[in-house]
Amino acid sequence: MKIAMVGSGYVGLVSGACFADFGHDVVCIDKDQSKIDRLREGVMPIYEPGLDALVASNVKAGRLSFTTDLAEGIKDASAIFIAVGTPSRRGDGHADLSYVYAVAREVGESLSNDAVVVTKSTVPVGTGDEVERILRESGTTHRVAVVSNPEFLREGAAIGDFKRPDRIVIGAEDDFGREVMREVYRPLFLNESPILFTSRRSSELIKYAANAFLATKITFINEMADLCEKVGGNVQDVARGIGLDGRIGGKFLHAGPGYGGSCFPKDTLALLKTAEDYESPVRIVEAVVKVNDLRKRAMGRKVVEALGGAEVARGKRAALLGLTFKPNTDDMRDSPAIAIAQTLADAGVSVAAYDPEGMELAKPLMPEVEMVADPYAAIEGADVIVIVTEWDAFRALDLGRVKALAKAPVLVDLRNVYKPEMMREAGFAYTSVGRH
Ligand SMILES: NC(=O)c1ccc[n+]([C@@H]2O[C@H](COP(=O)([O-])OP(=O)(O)OC[C@H]3O[C@@H](n4cnc5c(N)ncnc54)[C@H](O)[C@@H]3O)[C@@H](O)[C@H]2O)c1
Repeated sequence: MKIAMVGSGYVGLVSGACFADFGHDVVCIDKDQSKIDRLREGVMPIYEPGLDALVASNVKAGRLSFTTDLAEGIKDASAIFIAVGTPSRRGDGHADLSYVYAVAREVGESLSNDAVVVTKSTVPVGTGDEVERILRESGTTHRVAVVSNPEFLREGAAIGDFKRPDRIVIGAEDDFGREVMREVYRPLFLNESPILFTSRRSSELIKYAANAFLATKITFINEMADLCEKVGGNVQDVARGIGLDGRIGGKFLHAGPGYGGSCFPKDTLALLKTAEDYESPVRIVEAVVKVNDLRKRAMGRKVVEALGGAEVARGKRAALLGLTFKPNTDDMRDSPAIAIAQTLADAGVSVAAYDPEGMELAKPLMPEVEMVADPYAAIEGADVIVIVTEWDAFRALDLGRVKALAKAPVLVDLRNVYKPEMMREAGFAYTSVGRH
């Protein structure tokens, strides 16, 4: 089967490469000429473990190619996926659907055979109806079905998630759509991955409900962490104690500096806007968004406290270890590190930072931060060391070297990577999240 993937960013590229690996004939399309040029040279536009090898082997096998020419790319494709961005619209937080609709228009005008158009982008309820209207308006005479197929992959584990998903959700309104999608995912049918067929609107909502629920779990445990600090509890014990309950589950119960990334912040906001439009409030999600926003700067203030408070922090130096919103990605979108660095700069603290993959993308977002080549270069002369992202490289720091290089052995561990007793024994003034 031939598949066209319009949008070759994080989701489009990973999905396209994995579909090719299933044996389909895949063309990845993007309007960004330099991205397509680099992909043709085998250079990945993003950092994702295993992606370069997967792309290379499927290109070599002749199953995966790249183009900027949409009309050529979608020719003879049975399934045309839309995997372009749906960022927050400036000003109001609604999902910006202009990229999705632009692709729908172009597809309608270029279609040369019957096809299923699949929105893989995260889109608010009702977007499929509008895509269908645009395609109809384009005057195409070919049979077209519009299907919703949201993507649940996690950056950093994207290939595994795509190939062994917890579930596949397909929102289709007719048999043509369902049949083609069955063919697309046949290898996963054979693997017995659960495939859920729903209406298009339910499918669109499932994606937002899933992300809002996960964001709620994170925010819940973060507030429990704050309470632990006040009452003398240990949030990791609390998380384990509740997570072993099968009804709750242990995942997404790691206290930290607040959620960030390319999905949760924008998707929770977009869900609020949908709820507002339909006059059906989602007050829990409203609270989650507010609590998480406040938390990021609060983490910056926590570092200032560790320096001895605002009175003495001015003129001191902080080392940030990790900048990306989570490890194994170079994605800096809405990373808590941005607000933390800003709060430190506002308090007159100078910041040096190191991240294994994120520094290139971080530079324009954090112009006040000095980027350095390795963790120890950041630590040298620092009055406080802050673990912002739990990259493996920070899990086994040479503590003797850290102490020797830092101006003061003060460490704020926002990911609870180290054990408090061990750090105290090693001579550090150590603070973490929700533990004593
Ligand atoms: N990143 C994730 O982890 C993740 C996970 C699940 C779902 N999603 C959703 O998937 C969608 C895509 O996200 P992403 O992170 O891959 O975005 P991205 O910004 O990495 O990639 C989008 C790509 O689309 C291209 N594009 C835009 N308009 C185009 C057009 N008219 N024709 C061709 N190409 C065009 C851009 O050049 C870019 O390369 C979003 O809706 C997002 O919410 C993302």
